[in-house]
Amino acid sequence: MMPDKEKMALVTGAAGVLGSATARALAAEGYRVILVDIVKKPLDELAGSIGDAAIPLPLDIRNPQAVAEACDAIRNNQGEVSVLVNNAGVLSNEKLADTTDDEWRRILSVNLDGAFYLCRQWLPGMKRRHWGRIVNICSLAMKTGGLTAGTAYTASKGALSALTFSIAREAAPHGVTANGIAPAYILTPMITDYLSDDQQHRLLEQIPVGRFCEAKEVANVVRFLISPLSGFITGEIIDINGGLHMD
Ligand SMILES: NC(=O)c1ccc[n+]([C@@H]2O[C@H](COP(=O)([O-])OP(=O)(O)OC[C@H]3O[C@@H](n4cnc5c(N)ncnc54)[C@H](O)[C@@H]3O)[C@@H](O)[C@H]2O)c1
Repeated sequence: MMPDKEKMALVTGAAGVLGSATARALAAEGYRVILVDIVKKPLDELAGSIGDAAIPLPLDIRNPQAVAEACDAIRNNQGEVSVLVNNAGVLSNEKLADTTDDEWRRILSVNLDGAFYLCRQWLPGMKRRHWGRIVNICSLAMKTGGLTAGTAYTASKGALSALTFSIAREAAPHGVTANGIAPAYILTPMITDYLSDDQQHRLLEQIPVGRFCEAKEVANVVRFLISPLSGFITGEIIDINGGLHMD
């Protein structure tokens, strides 16, 4: 078990629905939580509601220089991050022919590049200290080809899973696990804003559990993956989809 002073986590996309649920769960586990997001105001509001454990950090994770400078500042002022949750993500439903160069880069730069920059910053310290947990928020889309999600999003999440496997293999002998979570249809603006009522209704008919996923339920999986209970699980992408897809 790690001593409390070393319990520091970083969550990207912390101002979002899933990110904020995860940040709250980590704070409840006794972690100081660095809340990273590109939007400042909701980040400050979230930090205020979590209290002393929260450290808001407005940052665009697409920018490797900005990520490096922010991580150096964290290292100097707070210490090393032992739990990294790469949760920030943007969605696009465009299929191949309608995916522009800009759209491809916009999705890949957040969903994949940002996670890579942060893993590169914090994995060496985790390996040195022989303990660490990386959790990447992937998606069911990468297994199904994207039921409603588009080409860039689906490809970005497939690549994020492969990044998870690569890190898991490299880091396992050093006491560091890397896993992913593949949720489907969490009740967030990605559902309510991007899918029509008709699409939502048709989807619910296909989800055996008969409802959309609560953000808190994904945060519970993060909680499990960072706990001592899961030390032998690495390189795994855990499904949480209400039975929509079984493999
Ligand atoms: N909602 C779903 O049903 C669903 C399903 C599968 C996977 N996911 C994944 O879960 C994760 C969280 O999704 P959510 O539903 O909570 O979405 P959300 O839109 O509520 O949160 C995403 C957050 O990422 C932040 N972000 C975007 N670009 C950024 C950047 N460049 N730098 C820093 N932060 C940035 C946004 O500001 C936002 O706060 C995403 O990776 C998403 O792909 C969601």
